[in-house]
Amino acid sequence: MAMGVMVLQGSLVAVLMIAMVRARDEATLLAFKAQVSDGASLVSWNSSADFCSWEGVTCSHQRPARVVALILHSRALSGALSPALGNLTFLRTLNLSFNWLRGEIPESLGRLQHLQTLDLSYNSFSGTLPLNLSSCVGMTTMALDSNKLDGGIPAELGERLTSLKAISLSNNSFTGAHPGIPDQFVPSAKP
Ligand SMILES: *[C@@H]1O[C@H](CO)[C@@H](O)[C@H](O)[C@H]1NC(C)=O
Ligand SMILES: *[C@@H]1O[C@H](CO)[C@@H](O)[C@H](O)[C@H]1NC(C)=O
Ligand SMILES: *[C@@H]1O[C@H](CO)[C@@H](O)[C@H](O)[C@H]1NC(C)=O
Ligand SMILES: *[C@@H]1O[C@H](CO)[C@@H](O)[C@H](O)[C@H]1NC(C)=O
Ligand SMILES: *[C@@H]1O[C@H](CO)[C@@H](O)[C@H](O)[C@H]1NC(C)=O
Repeated sequence: MAMGVMVLQGSLVAVLMIAMVRARDEATLLAFKAQVSDGASLVSWNSSADFCSWEGVTCSHQRPARVVALILHSRALSGALSPALGNLTFLRTLNLSFNWLRGEIPESLGRLQHLQTLDLSYNSFSGTLPLNLSSCVGMTTMALDSNKLDGGIPAELGERLTSLKAISLSNNSFTGAHPGIPDQFVPSAKP
């Protein structure tokens, strides 16, 4: 009897935890949506369907399902990138290329320990490249080209992101040296 109650309690806790984690990923996606003006391309992002089926969202198959990819390429998104995205801690792919997003790249993206692909190219992101991105040590592809980023490129990026196979930073306004990152990836903005 007592055993049965304990098992029941255990599974209740598990169910509650799953519900909490899921609610948090959904809230994070809604925080992202709240900061962008989407021109109706995020119309499927409503409570009539599970967030794992929202356009551009891919979830893992484990329980609780976690968001592993957010791919919204060429969706006419404008506005800023919510720092809340740093809470999608299972994210492996973030691809928001060819939109009109602006403002800074949030430092919180450094919390995405599983991130492999970051494509924010062809937007209007400004400010400096966050040092925190050097925490995404599994990153294999980083495309930040064709934005308005400036300042120096943190040495830690080249030093710590040892899995990088492709990086493009061209068509920005970076200045200075870029240790650890081969020249051909950072063609200077000005001759
Ligand atoms: C909610 O999303 C569904 C697709 O999942 C879409 O068909 C429906 O029009 C949306 N509802 C609203 C109110 O936007
Ligand atoms: C991330 O999640 C935590 C816990 O739910 C919350 O307190 C925090 O505000 C979230 N971060 C952002 C940037 O939304
Ligand atoms: C940036 O990285 C530092 C060190 O890892 C961490 O303490 C800090 O919370 C990160 N900032 C954000 C906004 O996640
Ligand atoms: C981002 O998505 C677009 C459209 O699917 C694709 O062409 C591009 O290669 C993706 N970026 C990366 C780095 O995979
Ligand atoms: C440079 O970046 C801007 C802003 O994203 C873009 O409009 C322009 O087409 C890019 N130029 C080239 C040559 O890719």
